[in-house]
Amino acid sequence: MRARQGLVPASVIAVLGAVVFCAQAQEANYDEAKVPKYTLPDPLVCLDGTPVTSAEIWTQKRRPEIFRLFEEHVYGRAPGRPAQMTFMTTSVEKNALDGKATRKEVTVYFNAKRQDPNMTILIYLPNAAPKPVPTFVGLNFGGNHTIHADPTISITKSWTRNRETNHKATEAERGRAARRWPVERILERGYGLATIYYGDIDPDFDDGFQNGVHPLFYKVGQTKPAPDAWGSIGAWAWGLSRAADYCETDADIDHQHLAVIGHSRLGKTSLWAGASDARFALVISNNSGCGGAALSRRQFGETVKRINTVFPHWFCDNYTKYNDDLAAMPVDQHMLIALMAPRPVYVASAEEDRWADPHGEFLSAKHAGPVFELLGAKPLPVDKMPAVSRPAMGTVAYHIRPGAHDVTDYDWERYMDFADMHWK
Ligand code: GCU
Repeated sequence: MRARQGLVPASVIAVLGAVVFCAQAQEANYDEAKVPKYTLPDPLVCLDGTPVTSAEIWTQKRRPEIFRLFEEHVYGRAPGRPAQMTFMTTSVEKNALDGKATRKEVTVYFNAKRQDPNMTILIYLPNAAPKPVPTFVGLNFGGNHTIHADPTISITKSWTRNRETNHKATEAERGRAARRWPVERILERGYGLATIYYGDIDPDFDDGFQNGVHPLFYKVGQTKPAPDAWGSIGAWAWGLSRAADYCETDADIDHQHLAVIGHSRLGKTSLWAGASDARFALVISNNSGCGGAALSRRQFGETVKRINTVFPHWFCDNYTKYNDDLAAMPVDQHMLIALMAPRPVYVASAEEDRWADPHGEFLSAKHAGPVFELLGAKPLPVDKMPAVSRPAMGTVAYHIRPGAHDVTDYDWERYMDFADMHWK
């Protein structure tokens, strides 16, 4: 009845939504036989044709070249550390989680006025482990208070993705994402965890870069980033580097052993943070897909055009030039993985996460191999994509696990095995 009166019932909206969703999903290619033929740029040949035959040529010439290409064409340039940045420790609890952990909260102010935006780092360090302790650093999607039910974690004041609460964080969300953050297990295995709500750095919606950290760096009269300057992923990665700045000042954190980790859009971010900042000694990409670990030229699942259309604020504007011309792109994502070399890097997929192109994620890790070898590190120790739950670990590691797009205990256990393998 209501529909006839011009009001559409929720059930109809749900059906329409599902139809639109299916139409979009159908546009994506999920057929390996329909992957177009493509040629990847060679990470070991410079733009001027110089072959990269030594670690020196890689370090002095080709690596900086590839990094600049990613800055200019994909993620955008970011400013460095603000001169006026300050850290304020707002709480320290030495007996958190039944005495297992020391919990700290540290606010990072990006300018001397201590204004918004600022970000809060939530830190758990194992009381039982010798200090300083190697630490996983990662952004979270819902606010620090969602990663654990610990009632003392402060609730973010930043915009959140929760539409039901008009984008405000609430007490009811406490611990909601705990499944993805096995804090006790991380502590038990002798690691620390530092996490930051990504919306503290830049709220994840397209507002023409009026909120978040971007305006802090505008020149007089500037209203948005230049076409080769940072979007939101660039800003989130920049925030991770600011967390590394803090870690360097904390005597309990082993800042030589920081592992940067992220899932999905935040996996794209952890890869870019790892490429931009060598203080991240180990880099983890969980189901990062298009614009993360997956090769763009395969156009399997999500494509560059689709991601630039649906999420116009994530990458720099220059990236849209390649929406319909991927062959013209001077990079592909295997070169992003190569930028970590010789540091350990782990790429992980999920079997049902075809949108993120698991095979394309594997191939990036694989094709980065020659750079790792040149630097005396170990490429992926397999030639073909391994079966599910058969992780392959060299200096480059890869696994695919059963199930959907998510971060699971299985993923975390493998990342900690990998860190043990390289650090213990
Ligand atoms: C969307 C997007 C992906 C992204 C994911 C996420 O599915 O298309 O690129 O990885 O959101 O961040 O959850």
